Amino acid sequence: MPQAPADRSAAPHDPRPIGVFDSGVGGLTVARALMDLLPDERIVYYGDTARGPYGPRDLGEVRRFTAQIVDDLARRDVKLVVAACNTATAAAVETDPLAFPVAVVGVIAPAVATALRATRNGRVGVIGTTGTIASGAYDRAVLAAGGDDVRLVSAACPRFVELVEAGRTTDSEVLDVAGDYLASLVAAEVDTLILGCTHYPLLTGVLSYVMGPDVVLVSSAEETARRVFARLVDERMLARRAAAPHRFVASGDGAAFARLAARFLGPRLSEVDVERAGPPAARVHVGRPG
Ligand code: DGL
Repeated sequence: MPQAPADRSAAPHDPRPIGVFDSGVGGLTVARALMDLLPDERIVYYGDTARGPYGPRDLGEVRRFTAQIVDDLARRDVKLVVAACNTATAAAVETDPLAFPVAVVGVIAPAVATALRATRNGRVGVIGTTGTIASGAYDRAVLAAGGDDVRLVSAACPRFVELVEAGRTTDSEVLDVAGDYLASLVAAEVDTLILGCTHYPLLTGVLSYVMGPDVVLVSSAEETARRVFARLVDERMLARRAAAPHRFVASGDGAAFARLAARFLGPRLSEVDVERAGPPAARVHVGRPG
């Protein structure tokens, strides 16, 4: 006889927010996936726009920035931190997850687990920033997930971040750049492609067009959100109802952050309030036009 579902109304809950951070706006694709899956959770988002992008930086430097931001979010009393940045995950999170004062979930392991389930021919591609690809973090994650028989083909795509931030996701130059970056993956006949950078979900159209309709695209944003969902349920840490609006903190220019945020968060969210990290305190409010 099927078991009656557990009475979750009596389950303990945790009203503290989820911390999410990135080098800038890219991690908002992960925040958006979290908002879709967990509408009762409140998010505190930290965009390190003063020091991003992280992709071209030294990994030791990215590790230091990551530790500082996780400390900042822990002081804001978050229950969990999502490192919504592949470069930060590669540099700091999956190498030593116990080094932080609060639990930190990265974006690499969730995407790898999904890709290994999705591949039919055992050939998986991954694209990311120069830092992520050079770190070898995806190769290690594939082995850690038991994918010894999988061939991982990697390609760094350094210009994609700049193009996405300029709002260019469909024009002919984007198609040409994507054609060049992805040529080795097409030639290797990968049947699954991991979008190993939080900006890349905005390029899904062009990536799918270049790779062809039979190649499965794996977004680390959605997979990570699913993993956070499962963790909050398993550890009985769900919030019952968001008591306050999401918070957005930027270390650099708040107005520039808010303008880009509207693109990443999508039409569903009409306005973004951005708070400046550290002194001088400042708040910027940007509403969407029309
Ligand atoms: N968010 C970063 C990532 O996912 C891309 C932007 C950057 O280079 O910092 O790797």
